[in-house]
Amino acid sequence: MSGRLPTNWFNEFVGRIEHEVPLAPMTWFKLGGRARHVYRPADETQLARMIGYAHDDDVPTRVLGGGANVLIRDDGVDGIVIRLDEPPFRKIEFRDDRVIAAGGTDLMRLTLECARRGLSGLECMAGIPGTVGGAIRMNAGGRFGDIGEVVATARLLNLEGKIETLNAEQLGFAYRHSNVGQRIVLSAELQLRQDDPESVMDRYNEIWESKKSSQPMGANSAGCIFKNPPGDSAGRLIDQAGMKGDSVGEAEVSRDHANFIVTRKNATARDVIRLVERIRQTVRRKFDVELETEIDIW
Ligand code: EPU
Repeated sequence: MSGRLPTNWFNEFVGRIEHEVPLAPMTWFKLGGRARHVYRPADETQLARMIGYAHDDDVPTRVLGGGANVLIRDDGVDGIVIRLDEPPFRKIEFRDDRVIAAGGTDLMRLTLECARRGLSGLECMAGIPGTVGGAIRMNAGGRFGDIGEVVATARLLNLEGKIETLNAEQLGFAYRHSNVGQRIVLSAELQLRQDDPESVMDRYNEIWESKKSSQPMGANSAGCIFKNPPGDSAGRLIDQAGMKGDSVGEAEVSRDHANFIVTRKNATARDVIRLVERIRQTVRRKFDVELETEIDIW
């Protein structure tokens, strides 16, 4: 397996591939190294062709969505990092109480737009950053609901470059989980409910406010670091272990919410990874609970 592109690919994708690209600015943590290649497909057809070639030549590919739930290691990543930020990947179509959103759509933009139109069901996602594809893949959500609850179908591009349409049952949504796996979310059809715009906006604002009051919204962080263990809360356990404010290098357990890690200037991904390990060990020792990371570490 090599991250180098076969030279015969260049003609077809020239102008769409950059090399040795720093990924830190594309993530919420603002940490980590470079991508060997970054590819921005013009449309689905081009993306499918690239995925097919990469599959045949064994070049690793991954999609970087909004970078809201990803920590890039300091060494960077091999292969091709795909960014779905051209207009066809950010399209939103409203059809009565259904919305079809492309995978690269900014989730915050979609959530707000639906609330403004009085389309209810997505306001539980107020304040959650990322893209529609990234959110569906991990069934993002919080106390007020998860995105999986409103997904009717999703069109996925598989590793062979073929499109599959899955319904909600096949998508297998569970707590911070779906069956998307290595496939790329091209678009999703969301089933919402027509409601009064004012009351949907009120609920949206309430949820947004409750997040703001309990989480570090301004700092460089990637939201919750660990999944909640069944029937418990990772934030509560880390807090009870007395770890708020503990740090490794320039990475610190947030004093606002213990399941967040915030970073200071000059932090490295290694600082965060070592702090994650220290939290895990402490919680294991004190409570005999095994915490599992919610963030993806590349
Ligand atoms: N708690 C503490 N100390 C803390 C943090 C929390 O004692 O430092 C206690 C709280 O008092 C509360 C309980 O733990 O009794 C649960 O805390 P919270 O209501 O903040 O929710 P959470 O389970 O920690 C989940 C999601 C968040 C989402 C919030 C609100 C997970 C892992 N986290 O947090 O999602 O914003 O609910 O809806 O599912 C994310 O996924 O990145 C994320 C931030």
